[in-house]
Amino acid sequence: MDIRGAVALVAGGGGGFGAATSRRLHAAGAKVVVCDLDEEKGRAVADDLGAGALFVRTDVTDEQSIQAAVDAAAELGPLRIAVVAHGGPGGPRTLDRESRPAPQESFTRVVGIFLEATYNINRLAAAAIARTEALEHGERGVLINTASIAAYDGTIGQAAYGAAKGGIVAMTLPLARDLAPSGIRVVTIAPGTFLTPAFRNADPEQLDAYWGAAVPFPKRMGRAEEYAQLAQQIAENVYLNGETIRLDGALRFTPKGGNA
Ligand SMILES: NC(=O)c1ccc[n+]([C@@H]2O[C@H](COP(=O)([O-])OP(=O)(O)OC[C@H]3O[C@@H](n4cnc5c(N)ncnc54)[C@H](O)[C@@H]3O)[C@@H](O)[C@H]2O)c1
Repeated sequence: MDIRGAVALVAGGGGGFGAATSRRLHAAGAKVVVCDLDEEKGRAVADDLGAGALFVRTDVTDEQSIQAAVDAAAELGPLRIAVVAHGGPGGPRTLDRESRPAPQESFTRVVGIFLEATYNINRLAAAAIARTEALEHGERGVLINTASIAAYDGTIGQAAYGAAKGGIVAMTLPLARDLAPSGIRVVTIAPGTFLTPAFRNADPEQLDAYWGAAVPFPKRMGRAEEYAQLAQQIAENVYLNGETIRLDGALRFTPKGGNA
């Protein structure tokens, strides 16, 4: 797809992956709608990009809020790209040290914010993309979702997160099949460990040393720009569809995630 002049909606656009992807798609000529719950972070990205970028305060757990963001994007021009890269809470271990079970509510919350919200954004964005004119190959647009390598090798404490991310992987193919008649592709990125604000309150050099040591090559954490680079390629390459791409330097999590 030629993304010049297309509109891209980026959920979590104020965060690590979202901001890098907003910048990259904007630099490549797309108009970008930066959607984030955090007004300060999201607005800063949109303001920095200037013309052709818009911040819309969005809560991805709220259907009306997503619909408002989709409507704002569709008003800017043909919505063709929706990137789902918002964050959310992790979960507890299934049993704590006293063998008490984790609250069921914690599982529901994690699955709600990662898996259900991703589907909600996908279906609402797809409806708007389906109304655009078809491009070359009959293509109308692409949905780019964010899973995690925890979908395959989740660590201790990641039962809920792994289930949510595994759900995103599992729905990629059926979504692509559902949306094929509309010329809409669906591709998921499953990142390893990336140096983003998601790792809060920690020294970046120490983080890179700890997590990077577990990565076969290159021996460092990923950079948000590398996620954004792949997102752009997914948008541009019409033959990528119905697939989840690991972006992880060949990292496979151990039970605790790192080398130990
Ligand atoms: N950083 C990593 O190593 C890594 C690895 C694998 C997967 N991921 C996944 O990538 C995605 C983004 O991660 P990141 O590292 O960029 O996180 P981040 O914390 O840097 O950014 C997440 C953004 O989402 C926003 N957000 C949170 N709740 C929201 C809501 N309800 N509605 C709208 N926006 C909301 C936050 O304000 C923040 O700006 C997440 O799904 C995460 O699970 C990250």
